[in-house]
Amino acid sequence: MAEKNLQELFHETLKDIYFAEKKILTALPKMAKAAQSDELRAAFQKHERETEEHIARLEKVFAEMDESPRGKTCDAILGIIGEGQDVMKEFKGKPALDAGLLAAAQAVEHYEIARYGTLKTWAAELGFNQAVGLLNATLEEEKKTDETLTRLAQSGVNQHAEAA
Ligand SMILES: [Fe+2]
Repeated sequence: MAEKNLQELFHETLKDIYFAEKKILTALPKMAKAAQSDELRAAFQKHERETEEHIARLEKVFAEMDESPRGKTCDAILGIIGEGQDVMKEFKGKPALDAGLLAAAQAVEHYEIARYGTLKTWAAELGFNQAVGLLNATLEEEKKTDETLTRLAQSGVNQHAEAA
C-alpha cells in the first residue's frame, strides 16, 4: 500500500466536510421550524442558503483536485446534529428550547470552523490555490454565523430561557 500523504489526508477531510455540510443542510430547516424566536429562525434560514453555497464551493475544490465530489460518513457531525435533535424533542414547547437550539448550532459552526481552517492551511501547502480562496470564503461565513449566534445568545434568547 502506498504511503499516505498530505494530499490523501486533504481529500479524506474534504469528503468528511462535504458529508457534514449535506447533513447540516437537511438539519437547518428543522431547526428553523423549531425555533421560537423570529431572529433565530431568520439566522438559521440565512445559513441554510449559505450552506448550499458551501456545498457548491466544496464541489469546485474536488474539481481542482480532479476528483468527483463524494462524502464520507462523519461521525462527529452526526453526533452534534443528534444532540440538537434530542434538544428539540426534550425541550419542545419549553422556554429553554431556543437556547438549546442555539447551543447546538454553535457546536456545528465550531466543528466547521475547525475543519475549514485546517483544509485552508493544507490547500495552501499543496498548492491548490483556487481551493484556498474558496475554503477561506466559507470559513469567513461560518465565523460570521457563529458571531451572529453569539450575539443572539447575549441579546435575549438565553434570558428568555432564564426568565421562565
Ligand atoms: Fe457550512
